[in-house]
Amino acid sequence: MVLNGAVNRDPERFECPHEFRVDRPNVREHLAFGRGIHSCPGGPLARIEARVSIERLLERTGGITLDEAEHGPSGERRFSYEPTYILRGLNELHLEFAPVADA
Ligand code: HEM
Repeated sequence: MVLNGAVNRDPERFECPHEFRVDRPNVREHLAFGRGIHSCPGGPLARIEARVSIERLLERTGGITLDEAEHGPSGERRFSYEPTYILRGLNELHLEFAPVADA
């Protein structure tokens, strides 16, 4: 059985797997959309939706930080996850967005 929530965090495959690094040399080896005959046919749509959403968000945002009232201070963060070993999904993520500074 594949544990999708764990495969992309395998330290033998991905250096420092808990760090978000879009420029990893082996970034295309991730298995978020599966692999082979049953790989996700919605992958290209999901990728372009994510790309457009993130680009539009970043155009309007000067900074993004975790809400410490909800998730605790740095070094003592608190998160809760969906009670499943198949996926690794947060129940809630509270963020604070700073607007882009006026040009
Ligand atoms: C971030 C978004 C998505 C993720 C992470 C995701 C992930 C996955 C994964 C891991 C599988 C299972 C692959 C396997 O069995 O090994 C799958 C299957 C599938 N996904 Fe997605 N998916 C996403 C979005 C979508 C979208 C947008 C669609 C349709 C518009 C879609 C349609 C399907 C279908 C039909 C299957 C079954 C394929 C089969 O069994 O042959 N998915 N997806």
